[in-house]
Amino acid sequence: MSVPFLDLQAATAELRSEIDGAVARVLASGWYVGGPEVSAFEEAFAGYSGAGHCVGVGNGLDALHLALRAMGVGPGDEVILASNGYIATVLAVSMVGATPVLVEPDPRTHNLDPELVEAAITPRTRVILPTHLYGQAADLDPLMEVARRHGLRLLEDAAQAHGARYKGRRIGGAGDAVAWSFYPSKNLGALGDGGAVTTNDPLIAQRIRTLGNYGSHRRYVNEVRGLNSRLDPMQAAILSVKLRHLDDWNRRRAAVAKRYLNALAGRGLELPFVPDWTEPAWHLFVVQSDAREALQRALANAGVETLIHYPIPPHRQQAYADLALPEGALPIADRLAGRVVSLPIGPHISDEQVGQVVTAVTALHRQAA
Ligand SMILES: Cc1ncc(COP(=O)(O)O)c(C=O)c1O
Repeated sequence: MSVPFLDLQAATAELRSEIDGAVARVLASGWYVGGPEVSAFEEAFAGYSGAGHCVGVGNGLDALHLALRAMGVGPGDEVILASNGYIATVLAVSMVGATPVLVEPDPRTHNLDPELVEAAITPRTRVILPTHLYGQAADLDPLMEVARRHGLRLLEDAAQAHGARYKGRRIGGAGDAVAWSFYPSKNLGALGDGGAVTTNDPLIAQRIRTLGNYGSHRRYVNEVRGLNSRLDPMQAAILSVKLRHLDDWNRRRAAVAKRYLNALAGRGLELPFVPDWTEPAWHLFVVQSDAREALQRALANAGVETLIHYPIPPHRQQAYADLALPEGALPIADRLAGRVVSLPIGPHISDEQVGQVVTAVTALHRQAA
């Protein structure tokens, strides 16, 4: 039996009749951009994440980029973010012409280390941009406290954290704005691209809506130079269906994570560390290994697909060669990039498949011992 990293077809199959109904509704509605399906999803997702407003946009990168623009971030400004994240978070900062300031994560949680953030603040800093990486909440309270003390905005990248909780509350309604991706493999994934920003600030919500609609609030009247980035009604209708199943699917992910955490303890891997103030959405189950290649090879031979999130940290990408950081400037990000490996997890992985992963890891450990 093979164990795919994530089975998206199974996810679609489980909800097929509901999705068919949603698609048929959109086809019959005549609304192919904007309209009631988008508004209904925005309202439902704002409610789900505990925010006053939700604005659908084209994808997660645009969600970050538009949120930064709505906060007035631009050339000459600095944005603080983690050195070990996905490239999109850094790209969003570059897209508005600001400078990304990479700060090391806490090596246990993989998330931005609040203690290091303060030291990175300069008179140019405008925003602190933590990612809830792998579906686990960043430590928001101290980050918010630092932001408040220095008059900065807090923008969260929650692309991997739909349904995750921080101190009992769902991510989405706390910071100045929270950016979401509905890329198909996300916990709440569309059947195509999609994204959103949730916020409690009506001004930020309105600016994002205007910016994503050519900079226009009233037809043919352009207040600012915007772009076209809107959540598609077909995707919104599908997301409304999937949102109703998100908690159930996240519970299934949590059960898989629990099983891995129990069965893989003491098997030579560094397992995810979960502080007691977070309930992760378990978007990814990321372990660390001193012998990653051997682990991936052994798992591949046992039919288990693994991935690396992420093999090259942003500061080592050619796209960011101009950061020109001295060698060894970001040792935690470098070390994590060399050690992390993601095991299969998702709402549709079977107990047998999880058992197959555990058996393969265990056999390798026995060989090595
Ligand atoms: C942490 C993070 N931020 C941003 C993005 C960008 O989202 P999108 O692919 O929808 O542009 C992703 C996913 O792709 C992500 O994982």
